[in-house]
Amino acid sequence: MSVETRSLDHLVSIESGTVSRELFVNRDIYDQELESIFGRAWLLVGHESLIPNPFDFFLSRMGEDSVILTRDRKGEVHVLLNSCMHRGMKVCRYDKGNARSFTCPYHGWSYSVDDRVAEQPGQLVGVPGFEEHYHCQLDKKAWGLVRCPKVVNYKGTIWASWDENAPPFLDYLGDMKLYLDAALDHRDGSEGGSEVIGGVQRWRIPCNWKFAPENFIGDHYHNISHRSVDLVGIGPSAGRGRRDNEGFESLIIGFPELGHGVIGALPHYEERPYHPAYTNSPVAQEYHREVYERRVRNLGKERRVLTGAATIFPNMSFHGIQPRTLAIFHPQGPTEMEMWRFYLVDKDAPPEVRDVLRHYFLRYSGPGGLTESDDMENWSYATEASKGRMARRHPYNYQMGMGYAKPVEGLKGAVNGGDTTEENARIFYNRWRQFMEGRGWSELMGRN
Ligand code: FES
Ligand SMILES: [Fe+2]
Repeated sequence: MSVETRSLDHLVSIESGTVSRELFVNRDIYDQELESIFGRAWLLVGHESLIPNPFDFFLSRMGEDSVILTRDRKGEVHVLLNSCMHRGMKVCRYDKGNARSFTCPYHGWSYSVDDRVAEQPGQLVGVPGFEEHYHCQLDKKAWGLVRCPKVVNYKGTIWASWDENAPPFLDYLGDMKLYLDAALDHRDGSEGGSEVIGGVQRWRIPCNWKFAPENFIGDHYHNISHRSVDLVGIGPSAGRGRRDNEGFESLIIGFPELGHGVIGALPHYEERPYHPAYTNSPVAQEYHREVYERRVRNLGKERRVLTGAATIFPNMSFHGIQPRTLAIFHPQGPTEMEMWRFYLVDKDAPPEVRDVLRHYFLRYSGPGGLTESDDMENWSYATEASKGRMARRHPYNYQMGMGYAKPVEGLKGAVNGGDTTEENARIFYNRWRQFMEGRGWSELMGRN
């Protein structure tokens, strides 16, 4: 059954707090998502620290499309579709590197990103047989690699949208910006002072891609899943648990008009008292105390927040405290996704501290991380058990805390659902429905 013949209200009913299982298993819905969501929304594609020098490149994805992030001579980042314009071969098959041009291995068309050779990044500059076989009649300027029209570098993170009419990234982000900043800024509060450590982890999970952003946006009550890792204790300090006690009350804060949400603290103007962390490593402990003191001085009375876990619609999530990471959930068919993890550290953190953090990241996250593997198990079994003929007839239940969220003063359009609620999942699926209904940007962004 195609998406057109269905009522989207039937698939996502915010009023009754239900979401159809078809969203998690149906191929037609999935194909429509690639068009209506991944073809339009702002998507995280990488981090500038992965391509520090001119002509560095990093292979990324937007939906199922392979894209090349490349930096030009002046440092500007471009996003090019990694598919030859002749017969579609991938012109780049390395995860990262440095190249001024990409030559297709199939018939040898070559595309340049060097402004001394090409007027546009990705321009077709070399075609074997151009004189003899094409009789110089091929319009090379018209057959360059497809270039993503909207690319933004926000505090080192690179975002892109295929939609020329997409709103400015900061409008798309809204006041969720504060929570993203809490992950991207240096621990001492200075802007964008982070970089990716140790490359990118990528792995596939047999689950629908939406399970992950839904979990990050506000699933504050699945601790039962992590019981074993809490007993083992993998945190930065001695003792049981996954994390050090951060000493703050985290709330479910969502942005109904934008589809983003966070498990975090409300905006405040002063640092909470310092909580000792990393007590297993005197060097890391001292470092974190020192950056804490600098942050208190640097931010003064500026407004700040704390981000536990969060999602930016549609498929990017992040942790702002421990472990500090960015995640992308790439769709890979209705019942599979490819998950990517980037790990952030302060740019000037000493080597010992980076090493302690790297070990903690690996204990916690990624395919071998003890916490992430719990989540992966839930998502993959839930997908498997939702495929069946009978299972598909019964929607998922999202009724927790309906009608109890309250507006947040000082955060535009935000609501606070309290400590534990499914409000943010409802916000996420409502946004999903709006995109899938093909609404225009003026309606999506409330500009009527
Ligand atoms: S597919 Fe690339 S040159 Fe033919
Ligand atoms: Fe979890």
